[in-house]
Amino acid sequence: MKKNEEYIVDIIDNGFQGEGIAKIENQVIFVPKAIKGEKVKIKILKVTSRICYAKMLEILEKSEHRTDEKCDTYSQCGGCSLRHMDYDYTIQLKKETVQNTLKKALGRAIKVDEVLPMDKPYHYRNKLQYPVGKNEAGESVMGVFAERSHRIITTAKCMIQNELAQEIAQDIFGFVQKNGISIYNEKTQTGILRHIVIRTNKENSEVMVTLVVNQFKVPKQKELIDFLTKRYVNIKTIIKNLNNRNTNVILGTQNEIIFGEGYITDILLGKKFQISNLSFYQVNPVQTEKLYAKAIEYANLTGKETVFDLYCGIGTIGICSADKVKHLVGIETIPEAIQDARENAKINHLENAEFLVGEVENILPDYIQKTKQKPDCVLIDPPRKGCARTALETLLEMEPPKIIYISCNPATLGRDLQILEEKYEIGKIAICDMFCWSWHVECCSVLYLKN
Ligand SMILES: C[S@@+](CC[C@H](N)C(=O)[O-])C[C@H]1O[C@@H](n2cnc3c(N)ncnc32)[C@H](O)[C@@H]1O
Repeated sequence: MKKNEEYIVDIIDNGFQGEGIAKIENQVIFVPKAIKGEKVKIKILKVTSRICYAKMLEILEKSEHRTDEKCDTYSQCGGCSLRHMDYDYTIQLKKETVQNTLKKALGRAIKVDEVLPMDKPYHYRNKLQYPVGKNEAGESVMGVFAERSHRIITTAKCMIQNELAQEIAQDIFGFVQKNGISIYNEKTQTGILRHIVIRTNKENSEVMVTLVVNQFKVPKQKELIDFLTKRYVNIKTIIKNLNNRNTNVILGTQNEIIFGEGYITDILLGKKFQISNLSFYQVNPVQTEKLYAKAIEYANLTGKETVFDLYCGIGTIGICSADKVKHLVGIETIPEAIQDARENAKINHLENAEFLVGEVENILPDYIQKTKQKPDCVLIDPPRKGCARTALETLLEMEPPKIIYISCNPATLGRDLQILEEKYEIGKIAICDMFCWSWHVECCSVLYLKN
């Protein structure tokens, strides 16, 4: 098989990022945006010893699950990857992906017991992050990065972003252009505005605007604040965030609050949460409530338990379950998130919670040694890379009767479950569609200590 050759192939499966899979004489070919069951004409783009990558030229036989994408930028944007399928099929695909990934890691068939889809899977994202920059013609542009690139695609209307946040971002971009606030140029590393980041709460009643800038001095700052706060009464805070490094990371570590208190509040499962801009907060609040409710159901707490909430962010899961907990201990590495968590414990009138800043793998063994506490239940919700091996070893030593493992990456979930299986058996596994239309999936599993 050679580059630029054209073939007609049957799509025999979909891979874990939703891509179609075909085979010619045992050579595996990845065909983005093709669906299992389709017959398509492809052009080979890249050949490696094990896999070929191809582009779909024409659909000769269509899957019954193919739908109209209803998005102008879908072909270029890297945000969604399953918009060409009907929603139910995306859920089926995610379920199969999790089952296959866990089977590979654990060496036996694993069943996803429960599925939590979203009723209206549109405009769910509560965090918009739009880069601004220059296009090839030297014009200022705002939108999203094209897949695997730093080319900005102008995004007029995104199906998954909050609509109010999109409107505010457009207005900021318009103001910036009219008032001569310079746009950052990645090549020369000059210009002021790099990203517009907007967080909204579930009701859209509170909005946080973060302007990621290459220098703190911004011309027409006062006018910009007046313009935004008069136009949108729900903007509760505006923050400048300094990022003057040549990096892909969006936010820097230094903030200057230029309007309001530097945070917004949201309500999840009846508890109130203060969220500041450097803290992690789940991006889909509707599905977050379902995920947390499932985790709390799996934990089956009675009010007598000591619960550890590891990788706790601003303390959301632990605080949502705190009414049924005797003592809650949260651990998280971002200091600002722990500040939020402590404040969140206060505003929810909790006197049974403590929050510690640091890495779970370092803090947890020390804490156990010092306090001699033994948790009855541990909630873990690590980032995509999963838990550090030493953190898992500490859990195996501690032997909590129950572990609830929440994960946004089935591959690292499988790897970590395999380690925990030394002493634990897997109870139920649920998947929650937190990132509708993208290939990402959130899992929640309960593990019981073996006798
Ligand atoms: C997927 S988020 C979950 C946060 C929270 N449980 C929630 O639902 O909002 C993972 C969190 O782990 C934190 N984190 C990453 N590595 C960590 C580590 N080694 N120790 C403690 N926290 C860590 C991140 O800052 C982030 O807040």
